[in-house]
Amino acid sequence: MSLKKCKEAINRELKDYGKAQQAVLPCLHAAQEKCGYISEEVLSYLAKELGISRVELYSVVSFYSMFKLEKKAKNVLQVCVSLPCYIKGSKSILEVIREKLGIGPGEVSSDGKFSIETVSCLGACDKAPVMMVNDKMHEDVTPEKAKEIISKLKGKRTVKRKSAKPKKTKKRKKL
Ligand code: FES
Repeated sequence: MSLKKCKEAINRELKDYGKAQQAVLPCLHAAQEKCGYISEEVLSYLAKELGISRVELYSVVSFYSMFKLEKKAKNVLQVCVSLPCYIKGSKSILEVIREKLGIGPGEVSSDGKFSIETVSCLGACDKAPVMMVNDKMHEDVTPEKAKEIISKLKGKRTVKRKSAKPKKTKKRKKL
């Protein structure tokens, strides 16, 4: 997404909030939503518009983990590696991801479609192991389930298992 679009998104927020301190977070959210991350150019532009230093603005961005300072892949896979998930198999999920995508934690696939991150507890330990794919949480992930998720993201159709039970047919009502 172009810088122009980011600036437009920021300007819309500035219209609503003015150039006050309260505008910082809405502007950052708007820019990230439009561009996927907060670039150097966006930092400079917003700092200038708000009349604050880049350092001040940078400290806000780096304080909140929801803001990204680097361009992310189209699909961000986050695998929890805290103890409960690790014990339940997050390592094997990372192995499946490496096998299917050829990348490991901290890496981005060459086509820019996937990136992998290891993260700490995502708050769903009772459903361990857990993996976030973009904004969606996947619970009780097995290596097989991880393969299916990746295949779907790649746009491949997964073959649905046919049910052993015959389908019920509705009886027609007599008129
Ligand atoms: S340890 Fe993985 S969700 Fe809590």
